Amino acid sequence: MPVSYKDLGLSNTREMFRRAFEGHYAVPAYNFNNMEQLQAIVTACVETRSPVILQVSSGARKYANQTLLRYMAEGAVKLAREIEKAHGAHQESPITLHLDHGDTFDLAKSCIDHGFSSVMIDGSHLPYEENIKLTKQVVEYARPRDVSVEGELGVLAGIEDKVMAEKSTYTRPEEVVDFVGRTGVDSLAISIGTSHGAYKFKPEQCTRDERGVLVPPPLRFDILREVEKKLPGFPIVLHGASSVIQEAVATINKYGGAMKDAIGVPEEQLREAAKSAVCKINIDTDGRMVMTATVRKVFVETPAEFDPRKYLGPARTALIEMYKRKNREVLGSAGRYGKEF
Ligand code: G3H
Ligand code: 13P
Ligand code: ZN
Repeated sequence: MPVSYKDLGLSNTREMFRRAFEGHYAVPAYNFNNMEQLQAIVTACVETRSPVILQVSSGARKYANQTLLRYMAEGAVKLAREIEKAHGAHQESPITLHLDHGDTFDLAKSCIDHGFSSVMIDGSHLPYEENIKLTKQVVEYARPRDVSVEGELGVLAGIEDKVMAEKSTYTRPEEVVDFVGRTGVDSLAISIGTSHGAYKFKPEQCTRDERGVLVPPPLRFDILREVEKKLPGFPIVLHGASSVIQEAVATINKYGGAMKDAIGVPEEQLREAAKSAVCKINIDTDGRMVMTATVRKVFVETPAEFDPRKYLGPARTALIEMYKRKNREVLGSAGRYGKEF
C-alpha cells in the first residue's frame, strides 16, 4: 500500500521555496544515512527555526532500508514537534524528505510510494531530449500526488552517486526555459563550478594562500545571473556545496587520516548564492567529515573505549553545532520560523 508523505507530517518544497526566494535565503538539504545524522539534522534545524530537506541518496536508501527510512522520517517529524512543544513554539518548521540524484523512473516512483515528499530525477548525464523525457515522466507521476520534482541541467564534476564525472559541463542558460517548460519541474539544479565530494578542485585549478592552503577558482555567478534572468522567480538548486571545513580536514589528518588537499566551496560564495534564486543548497561531505573527525579523535584519545555511544554521541553533538552554524552563517535559514530556541 503506497503511503503519502502528508500522512507522515512531511511537506513538499513549494511553500518552502517561495519563502526562501522572497526572504533571500536557501533551505538546507542535508544528506543522512543513519540515526545520529538524522537526529543531528532535525535537532539543529528545528532549534534554529530553519526549514529542512532531509536528503537520501539511492545508496543511503539501500544502506538504511527503505521501510525503516519511512519510519525514521516519520519519527524525525515527531521529534521536531516534541522539541517545538517543549519550547512553546507557535509555528512548525517544515520538513521535506527528498530523493537525491534519483536516476530512474522506478526509483523515483518507489520513493514517492514510500512517503517521500520530493524527488530529484537526475538526467543530467543523458542527452538533452532523453533528460527531458525521463524528467517529464517523473513529473507526471509526482504532480497528482503533490510531490515536488527537481531536475538537473549541466554536469558537476565528482561523484554523483554511482556516476563519476571527470569533467564538469556548465549549465547552458539558453536551455533552461525550454527544459523547465517542457518538463514541469518545480526546481532546477545547475552546474556553476561546484562539485561533489571532498576534493572539489584539483590543485592545478587552484592557487595557494600564504599558509599553502588551496584557493579554488570562483563559482560562475555570471551563469547563475543569466539563469535567474531567464527564469524569474524560479527556485534554483546548488549541489556539491560543502565547504570542506579545513578544521575537520586537519583533525582527520592529525588523528591518523589521510585527506591531502581536500578542498571545498568557500562559504562567502555560498552565502552570496543563498541570497539569489538559489533556494536549496546540498551539503553531505561536510557532515561526513565532521563525524569522521570526531570519531577519529575519540578513538585516538581514548583507545580503551568500545561503547558506540561514546564516539557516535560526540559526533552527533559536533554535527548539531556544524549544521546550526551553516543555517545561521551560510544559508541564512535560521530564525525563519520564529525565534531560535
Ligand atoms: O551527491 C551525492 C551525495 O553526496 C550522496 O552520496 O551516493 O555516496 O550516498 P552517496
Ligand atoms: P557535497 O559532496 O559537496 O556535500 O554535495 C552533496 C550533494 O550535492 C548531494 O546531492
Ligand atoms: Zn548532488
